[in-house]
Amino acid sequence: MPGWAVWVMVGVLVWLLLTVLVLRVLGLVRVFDESAAREAEHELIGAAPPAQLLEPVVAPERRRILVVDDDAGLRLLLRTTLTADEFEVEEAVSAEEAAEVGRFWSPAVVILDVGLPGVDGFTFCRELKQNPAYGAPLVVLLTGQETTTDEVTAAGPDAVMRKPFSPLELIRVLDRVSEPAPALVAEPAEADAEQLLIYARDLSRLLEIERTQRRLLQQAYSQTATALADALEAKDPVTGLHAVRVHRYAIELTRALDPSLLNDPSLEYGFLLHDVGKLGIPDTILLKEGPLTESERQVMQRHTLLGGQILSGVALLQGEGLRVVRSHHERWDGTGYPDGLAGREIPIGARIFALVDAVDAITNERPYRSALTWEEAVDQILVENGRQFDPRVVAAFAARERRMRRISEELAEAAA
Ligand SMILES: [Fe+2]
Repeated sequence: MPGWAVWVMVGVLVWLLLTVLVLRVLGLVRVFDESAAREAEHELIGAAPPAQLLEPVVAPERRRILVVDDDAGLRLLLRTTLTADEFEVEEAVSAEEAAEVGRFWSPAVVILDVGLPGVDGFTFCRELKQNPAYGAPLVVLLTGQETTTDEVTAAGPDAVMRKPFSPLELIRVLDRVSEPAPALVAEPAEADAEQLLIYARDLSRLLEIERTQRRLLQQAYSQTATALADALEAKDPVTGLHAVRVHRYAIELTRALDPSLLNDPSLEYGFLLHDVGKLGIPDTILLKEGPLTESERQVMQRHTLLGGQILSGVALLQGEGLRVVRSHHERWDGTGYPDGLAGREIPIGARIFALVDAVDAITNERPYRSALTWEEAVDQILVENGRQFDPRVVAAFAARERRMRRISEELAEAAA
Protein backbone atom coordinates (compact mmCIF):
# COMPACT_ATOMS: atom_id res chain seq x y z
CA MET A 1 0.00 0.00 0.00
CA PRO A 2 1.51 3.45 -0.94
CA GLY A 3 2.54 5.73 1.96
CA TRP A 4 -0.03 8.43 1.15
CA ALA A 5 -2.86 5.86 1.23
CA VAL A 6 -1.81 4.71 4.70
CA TRP A 7 -1.99 8.28 6.00
CA VAL A 8 -5.41 8.82 4.35
CA MET A 9 -6.68 5.68 6.15
CA VAL A 10 -5.13 6.86 9.40
CA GLY A 11 -6.90 10.24 8.96
CA VAL A 12 -10.27 8.59 8.33
CA LEU A 13 -9.87 6.26 11.31
CA VAL A 14 -8.89 9.16 13.56
CA TRP A 15 -11.97 11.11 12.47
CA LEU A 16 -14.32 8.16 13.00
CA LEU A 17 -12.85 7.31 16.37
CA LEU A 18 -13.22 10.95 17.46
CA THR A 19 -16.89 10.76 16.41
CA VAL A 20 -17.33 7.68 18.60
CA LEU A 21 -15.56 9.56 21.41
CA VAL A 22 -17.98 12.50 21.15
CA LEU A 23 -20.98 10.11 21.25
CA ARG A 24 -19.43 8.41 24.24
CA VAL A 25 -18.91 11.70 26.08
CA LEU A 26 -22.58 12.47 25.41
CA GLY A 27 -23.43 9.16 27.07
CA LEU A 28 -24.88 7.68 23.87
CA VAL A 29 -22.29 4.97 23.37
CA ARG A 30 -20.50 2.49 25.64
CA VAL A 31 -17.87 1.32 23.23
CA PHE A 32 -15.51 -1.61 23.55
CA ASP A 33 -17.96 -3.62 25.66
CA GLU A 34 -20.30 -5.84 23.72
CA SER A 35 -21.32 -7.87 26.76
CA ALA A 36 -22.43 -4.66 28.47
CA ALA A 37 -24.46 -3.81 25.36
CA ARG A 38 -26.16 -7.20 25.50
CA GLU A 39 -26.83 -6.83 29.23
CA ALA A 40 -28.29 -3.38 28.62
CA GLU A 41 -30.50 -4.76 25.88
CA HIS A 42 -31.69 -7.52 28.22
CA GLU A 43 -32.42 -5.04 30.99
CA LEU A 44 -34.30 -2.67 28.72
CA ILE A 45 -36.35 -5.37 27.04
CA GLY A 46 -37.19 -6.53 30.56
CA ALA A 47 -38.70 -3.07 31.22
CA ALA A 48 -36.09 -1.45 33.47
CA PRO A 49 -37.63 1.12 35.83
CA PRO A 50 -37.43 4.73 34.58
CA ALA A 51 -35.25 5.86 37.51
CA GLN A 52 -32.58 3.41 36.38
CA LEU A 53 -32.69 4.87 32.89
CA LEU A 54 -32.26 8.39 34.15
CA GLU A 55 -29.13 7.80 36.26
CA PRO A 56 -26.65 10.58 35.59
CA VAL A 57 -23.55 9.63 33.64
CA VAL A 58 -20.46 10.08 35.85
CA ALA A 59 -17.24 10.75 33.95
CA PRO A 60 -14.69 8.09 34.97
CA GLU A 61 -11.19 9.07 36.06
CA ARG A 62 -8.76 8.94 33.13
CA ARG A 63 -5.86 6.50 33.48
CA ARG A 64 -2.43 7.68 32.29
CA ILE A 65 -0.86 5.58 29.57
CA LEU A 66 2.61 6.00 28.09
CA VAL A 67 3.00 4.55 24.56
CA VAL A 68 6.61 3.71 23.67
CA ASP A 69 7.09 2.76 20.00
CA ASP A 70 9.33 4.05 17.21
CA ASP A 71 6.53 3.59 14.60
CA ALA A 72 4.79 7.01 14.31
CA GLY A 73 1.72 5.56 12.56
CA LEU A 74 1.15 2.97 15.28
CA ARG A 75 1.61 5.61 18.00
CA LEU A 76 -1.07 7.77 16.36
CA LEU A 77 -3.49 4.84 16.11
CA LEU A 78 -2.87 3.88 19.75
CA ARG A 79 -3.28 7.48 20.92
CA THR A 80 -6.59 7.76 19.05
CA THR A 81 -7.89 4.43 20.32
CA LEU A 82 -6.91 5.02 23.93
CA THR A 83 -8.04 8.65 24.08
CA ALA A 84 -11.46 7.46 22.86
CA ASP A 85 -11.62 5.06 25.80
CA GLU A 86 -11.01 7.24 28.83
CA PHE A 87 -7.20 7.19 28.83
CA GLU A 88 -4.79 10.11 28.96
CA VAL A 89 -1.91 9.36 26.60
CA GLU A 90 1.75 10.43 26.27
CA GLU A 91 4.19 9.11 23.67
CA ALA A 92 7.87 8.28 23.46
CA VAL A 93 9.90 7.00 20.50
CA SER A 94 12.60 5.24 22.55
CA ALA A 95 13.30 3.80 25.99
CA GLU A 96 15.57 6.77 26.76
CA GLU A 97 12.79 9.29 26.05
CA ALA A 98 10.26 7.11 27.91
CA ALA A 99 12.53 7.09 30.97
CA GLU A 100 12.40 10.90 31.11
CA VAL A 101 8.62 11.08 30.63
CA GLY A 102 8.00 8.19 33.06
CA ARG A 103 9.86 9.79 35.94
CA PHE A 104 7.86 13.02 36.08
CA TRP A 105 4.51 11.88 34.62
CA SER A 106 4.07 8.57 36.54
CA PRO A 107 1.93 6.61 34.04
CA ALA A 108 -0.40 3.90 35.34
CA VAL A 109 0.35 1.75 32.28
CA VAL A 110 3.23 1.63 29.80
CA ILE A 111 2.58 0.07 26.37
CA LEU A 112 6.07 -0.86 25.30
CA ASP A 113 7.36 -2.07 21.94
CA VAL A 114 10.04 -4.76 22.25
CA GLY A 115 11.96 -3.83 19.10
CA LEU A 116 13.05 -0.28 20.00
CA PRO A 117 16.21 1.42 18.69
CA GLY A 118 18.84 1.67 21.46
CA VAL A 119 17.69 0.11 24.74
CA ASP A 120 15.22 -2.66 23.81
CA GLY A 121 11.76 -3.19 25.30
CA PHE A 122 12.71 -6.22 27.46
CA THR A 123 15.54 -4.27 29.14
CA PHE A 124 13.42 -1.17 29.72
CA CYS A 125 10.57 -3.30 31.05
CA ARG A 126 12.88 -4.70 33.74
CA GLU A 127 13.95 -1.12 34.60
CA LEU A 128 10.32 0.00 34.89
CA LYS A 129 9.48 -2.91 37.18
CA GLN A 130 12.56 -2.64 39.41
CA ASN A 131 13.16 1.13 39.72
CA PRO A 132 10.69 2.71 42.19
CA ALA A 133 11.24 6.11 40.53
CA TYR A 134 8.67 5.10 37.87
CA GLY A 135 5.90 4.42 40.42
CA ALA A 136 5.46 0.71 39.53
CA PRO A 137 3.40 1.05 36.33
CA LEU A 138 1.69 -1.90 34.68
CA VAL A 139 3.55 -2.87 31.49
CA VAL A 140 2.05 -4.29 28.28
CA LEU A 141 4.76 -5.47 25.88
CA LEU A 142 4.11 -5.28 22.13
CA THR A 143 6.14 -7.68 20.07
CA GLY A 144 6.30 -8.37 16.37
CA GLN A 145 8.42 -11.50 16.75
CA GLU A 146 8.34 -14.78 18.65
CA THR A 147 9.41 -14.42 22.27
CA THR A 148 10.60 -17.12 24.63
CA THR A 149 9.07 -17.74 28.04
CA ASP A 150 12.44 -17.01 29.62
CA GLU A 151 12.67 -13.58 27.97
CA VAL A 152 9.16 -12.66 29.11
CA THR A 153 9.70 -13.96 32.66
CA ALA A 154 12.97 -12.07 32.98
CA ALA A 155 11.40 -8.79 31.78
CA GLY A 156 8.34 -9.20 34.08
CA PRO A 157 5.57 -7.47 32.04
CA ASP A 158 1.94 -7.71 33.09
CA ALA A 159 0.84 -8.67 29.57
CA VAL A 160 2.31 -9.41 26.16
CA MET A 161 0.51 -8.65 22.87
CA ARG A 162 1.70 -9.88 19.51
CA LYS A 163 1.49 -7.61 16.46
CA PRO A 164 -0.73 -7.12 14.57
CA PHE A 165 -3.21 -6.73 17.43
CA SER A 166 -6.88 -5.86 17.66
CA PRO A 167 -7.43 -2.51 19.42
CA LEU A 168 -10.52 -3.98 21.10
CA GLU A 169 -8.36 -6.80 22.44
CA LEU A 170 -5.84 -4.21 23.69
CA ILE A 171 -8.60 -2.41 25.61
CA ARG A 172 -9.70 -5.71 27.17
CA VAL A 173 -6.09 -6.48 28.14
CA LEU A 174 -5.73 -3.02 29.72
CA ASP A 175 -8.88 -3.66 31.75
CA ARG A 176 -7.60 -7.06 32.87
CA VAL A 177 -4.00 -6.13 33.74
CA SER A 178 -5.32 -3.96 36.58
CA GLU A 179 -6.32 -7.15 38.35
CA PRO A 180 -3.53 -9.13 40.11
CA ALA A 181 -2.87 -12.21 37.93
CA PRO A 182 -0.07 -13.94 36.01
CA ALA A 183 1.17 -12.18 32.85
CA LEU A 184 -1.30 -12.33 29.99
CA VAL A 185 -0.12 -13.39 26.56
CA ALA A 186 -2.53 -12.34 23.81
CA GLU A 187 -2.11 -14.02 20.43
CA PRO A 188 -2.01 -11.87 17.25
CA ALA A 189 -5.46 -11.00 15.86
CA GLU A 190 -4.61 -12.33 12.38
CA ALA A 191 -0.98 -13.15 11.76
CA ASP A 192 -0.94 -12.15 8.09
CA ALA A 193 -3.28 -9.11 8.21
CA GLU A 194 -2.20 -5.47 8.16
CA GLN A 195 -2.58 -3.47 11.37
CA LEU A 196 -4.76 -0.84 9.67
CA LEU A 197 -7.12 -3.50 8.31
CA ILE A 198 -7.64 -4.87 11.81
CA TYR A 199 -8.38 -1.33 13.04
CA ALA A 200 -10.93 -0.87 10.26
CA ARG A 201 -12.69 -4.15 11.18
CA ASP A 202 -12.81 -3.21 14.85
CA LEU A 203 -14.23 0.17 13.89
CA SER A 204 -16.98 -1.52 11.95
CA ARG A 205 -17.87 -3.57 15.07
CA LEU A 206 -17.91 -0.39 17.15
CA LEU A 207 -20.30 1.30 14.75
CA GLU A 208 -22.59 -1.72 14.98
CA ILE A 209 -22.50 -1.44 18.78
CA GLU A 210 -23.27 2.28 18.51
CA ARG A 211 -26.30 1.54 16.30
CA THR A 212 -27.55 -1.02 18.84
CA GLN A 213 -27.13 1.52 21.63
CA ARG A 214 -29.08 4.11 19.63
CA ARG A 215 -31.96 1.62 19.20
CA LEU A 216 -31.86 0.89 22.93
CA LEU A 217 -32.00 4.60 23.67
CA GLN A 218 -35.12 4.93 21.49
CA GLN A 219 -36.68 1.97 23.33
CA ALA A 220 -35.81 3.61 26.64
CA TYR A 221 -37.53 6.85 25.58
CA SER A 222 -40.57 4.95 24.42
CA GLN A 223 -40.77 2.86 27.61
CA THR A 224 -40.37 5.98 29.76
CA ALA A 225 -43.17 7.75 27.89
CA THR A 226 -45.40 4.66 28.19
CA ALA A 227 -44.66 4.42 31.92
CA LEU A 228 -45.75 8.05 32.31
CA ALA A 229 -48.95 7.38 30.37
CA ASP A 230 -49.55 4.27 32.55
CA ALA A 231 -49.05 6.39 35.69
CA LEU A 232 -51.84 8.67 34.48
CA GLU A 233 -54.16 5.74 33.75
CA ALA A 234 -53.48 4.32 37.21
CA LYS A 235 -54.68 7.65 38.62
CA ASP A 236 -57.76 7.68 36.40
CA PRO A 237 -58.72 4.01 35.87
CA VAL A 238 -61.98 4.96 34.15
CA THR A 239 -60.05 5.68 30.96
CA GLY A 240 -58.69 2.10 30.82
CA LEU A 241 -56.49 1.65 27.75
CA HIS A 242 -57.37 5.13 26.48
CA ALA A 243 -53.76 6.25 25.88
CA VAL A 244 -52.89 3.06 23.99
CA ARG A 245 -56.03 3.21 21.82
CA VAL A 246 -55.78 6.88 20.88
CA HIS A 247 -52.08 6.52 20.21
CA ARG A 248 -52.78 3.69 17.72
CA TYR A 249 -55.74 5.52 16.13
CA ALA A 250 -53.75 8.73 15.80
CA ILE A 251 -50.84 6.97 14.07
CA GLU A 252 -53.29 5.36 11.64
CA LEU A 253 -55.03 8.63 10.90
CA THR A 254 -51.74 10.50 10.46
CA ARG A 255 -50.58 7.88 7.94
CA ALA A 256 -53.81 8.39 6.00
CA LEU A 257 -53.50 12.18 6.05
CA ASP A 258 -49.78 12.81 5.61
CA PRO A 259 -47.25 10.07 6.53
CA SER A 260 -44.36 12.59 6.44
CA LEU A 261 -45.70 14.10 9.68
CA LEU A 262 -44.40 10.99 11.44
CA ASN A 263 -40.84 11.98 10.52
CA ASP A 264 -41.06 14.18 13.61
CA PRO A 265 -40.62 11.58 16.39
CA SER A 266 -42.06 13.95 19.01
CA LEU A 267 -45.51 13.60 17.43
CA GLU A 268 -45.98 9.99 18.61
CA TYR A 269 -44.88 10.90 22.13
CA GLY A 270 -47.33 13.80 22.08
CA PHE A 271 -50.14 11.38 21.17
CA LEU A 272 -49.13 9.07 24.02
CA LEU A 273 -48.69 11.80 26.65
CA HIS A 274 -51.47 14.17 25.55
CA ASP A 275 -53.23 14.17 28.97
CA VAL A 276 -50.14 14.06 31.20
CA GLY A 277 -51.24 17.41 32.69
CA LYS A 278 -54.09 15.53 34.43
CA LEU A 279 -51.47 14.35 36.92
CA GLY A 280 -51.73 17.88 38.33
CA ILE A 281 -55.55 17.92 38.57
CA PRO A 282 -57.05 17.14 42.03
CA ASP A 283 -58.66 13.71 42.30
CA THR A 284 -61.88 15.31 43.59
CA ILE A 285 -62.33 16.82 40.13
CA LEU A 286 -60.61 14.19 37.97
CA LEU A 287 -62.54 11.28 39.47
CA LYS A 288 -65.84 13.09 40.11
CA GLU A 289 -68.90 11.13 39.02
CA GLY A 290 -71.44 13.33 37.33
CA PRO A 291 -71.13 16.71 35.63
CA LEU A 292 -68.50 19.25 36.73
CA THR A 293 -69.39 22.73 37.97
CA GLU A 294 -68.17 25.70 35.93
CA SER A 295 -65.19 26.32 38.23
CA GLU A 296 -64.30 22.61 38.26
CA ARG A 297 -64.47 22.56 34.47
CA GLN A 298 -62.03 25.48 34.33
CA VAL A 299 -59.61 23.62 36.61
CA MET A 300 -59.95 20.48 34.46
CA GLN A 301 -59.20 22.47 31.29
CA ARG A 302 -55.88 23.54 32.81
CA HIS A 303 -54.54 20.02 32.11
CA THR A 304 -53.54 21.22 28.62
CA LEU A 305 -51.39 24.04 30.03
CA LEU A 306 -50.02 21.88 32.85
CA GLY A 307 -49.07 19.16 30.35
CA GLY A 308 -47.26 21.73 28.22
CA GLN A 309 -45.36 22.98 31.28
CA ILE A 310 -44.46 19.48 32.50
CA LEU A 311 -43.05 18.47 29.13
CA SER A 312 -41.62 21.81 27.97
CA GLY A 313 -38.10 20.89 29.10
CA VAL A 314 -38.16 17.41 27.59
CA ALA A 315 -36.10 17.31 24.39
CA LEU A 316 -38.05 14.28 23.18
CA LEU A 317 -41.27 16.29 22.98
CA GLN A 318 -39.92 19.42 21.28
CA GLY A 319 -41.80 19.89 18.01
CA GLU A 320 -45.29 18.84 17.01
CA GLY A 321 -45.59 16.55 20.08
CA LEU A 322 -45.60 19.42 22.57
CA ARG A 323 -48.19 21.25 20.44
CA VAL A 324 -50.48 18.20 20.60
CA VAL A 325 -50.29 18.26 24.40
CA ARG A 326 -51.24 21.95 24.59
CA SER A 327 -53.77 22.19 21.74
CA HIS A 328 -55.65 18.87 21.58
CA HIS A 329 -58.85 20.48 22.91
CA GLU A 330 -58.92 23.31 20.37
CA ARG A 331 -61.83 23.25 17.89
CA TRP A 332 -61.80 24.04 14.17
CA ASP A 333 -64.49 26.75 14.72
CA GLY A 334 -62.37 28.53 17.37
CA THR A 335 -64.48 27.69 20.45
CA GLY A 336 -62.00 25.26 22.05
CA TYR A 337 -59.36 25.78 24.73
CA PRO A 338 -56.82 26.81 26.03
CA ASP A 339 -56.02 29.43 23.34
CA GLY A 340 -59.23 29.58 21.26
CA LEU A 341 -57.29 28.85 18.05
CA ALA A 342 -59.31 28.34 14.86
CA GLY A 343 -58.82 26.49 11.55
CA ARG A 344 -55.22 26.11 10.44
CA GLU A 345 -53.97 28.08 13.45
CA ILE A 346 -54.40 24.80 15.31
CA PRO A 347 -51.29 22.61 14.92
CA ILE A 348 -51.95 19.71 12.55
CA GLY A 349 -51.05 17.04 15.12
CA ALA A 350 -53.58 18.53 17.54
CA ARG A 351 -56.28 18.57 14.82
CA ILE A 352 -55.67 14.87 14.17
CA PHE A 353 -55.61 14.02 17.82
CA ALA A 354 -58.81 15.95 18.65
CA LEU A 355 -60.73 13.64 16.31
CA VAL A 356 -59.35 10.33 17.61
CA ASP A 357 -59.78 11.50 21.21
CA ALA A 358 -63.45 12.16 20.49
CA VAL A 359 -63.92 8.76 18.79
CA ASP A 360 -62.46 7.01 21.82
CA ALA A 361 -64.55 9.02 24.29
CA ILE A 362 -67.77 8.25 22.37
CA THR A 363 -67.11 4.50 22.03
CA ASN A 364 -66.16 3.93 25.69
CA GLU A 365 -68.21 4.09 28.84
CA ARG A 366 -67.99 7.08 31.17
CA PRO A 367 -69.45 7.37 34.69
CA TYR A 368 -72.10 9.73 33.39
CA ARG A 369 -73.07 7.91 30.16
CA SER A 370 -72.79 4.55 28.41
CA ALA A 371 -70.66 3.75 25.36
CA LEU A 372 -72.06 4.27 21.87
CA THR A 373 -71.38 1.97 18.91
CA TRP A 374 -68.61 2.60 16.37
CA GLU A 375 -71.22 3.51 13.71
CA GLU A 376 -72.78 6.09 16.03
CA ALA A 377 -69.34 7.56 16.69
CA VAL A 378 -68.68 7.86 12.94
CA ASP A 379 -72.02 9.67 12.53
CA GLN A 380 -71.16 12.13 15.33
CA ILE A 381 -67.75 12.86 13.81
CA LEU A 382 -69.35 13.57 10.44
CA VAL A 383 -71.87 15.93 12.09
CA GLU A 384 -68.95 17.89 13.60
CA ASN A 385 -67.16 18.21 10.23
CA GLY A 386 -66.07 21.84 9.90
CA ARG A 387 -67.29 22.67 13.44
CA GLN A 388 -65.19 20.73 15.93
CA PHE A 389 -62.96 19.02 13.36
CA ASP A 390 -60.80 19.95 10.35
CA PRO A 391 -62.67 18.77 7.18
CA ARG A 392 -59.43 17.36 5.75
CA VAL A 393 -58.90 15.24 8.87
CA VAL A 394 -62.54 14.09 8.78
CA ALA A 395 -62.10 12.99 5.14
CA ALA A 396 -58.99 10.96 6.08
CA PHE A 397 -60.94 9.43 8.98
CA ALA A 398 -63.81 8.45 6.68
CA ALA A 399 -61.32 6.71 4.40
CA ARG A 400 -59.54 4.88 7.23
CA GLU A 401 -62.18 4.34 9.94
CA ARG A 402 -62.63 0.61 9.18
CA ARG A 403 -58.96 -0.06 10.00
CA MET A 404 -59.23 2.01 13.16
CA ARG A 405 -62.27 0.00 14.17
CA ARG A 406 -60.24 -3.19 13.69
CA ILE A 407 -57.52 -1.77 15.97
CA SER A 408 -60.20 -1.08 18.58
CA GLU A 409 -61.49 -4.67 18.38
CA GLU A 410 -57.98 -6.15 18.56
CA LEU A 411 -57.09 -4.12 21.66
CA ALA A 412 -60.40 -5.07 23.32
CA GLU A 413 -59.73 -8.78 22.64
CA ALA A 414 -56.16 -8.49 23.96
CA ALA A 415 -57.40 -6.82 27.16
CA ALA A 416 -60.20 -9.38 27.75
FE1 LIG B 1 -57.18 16.07 27.21
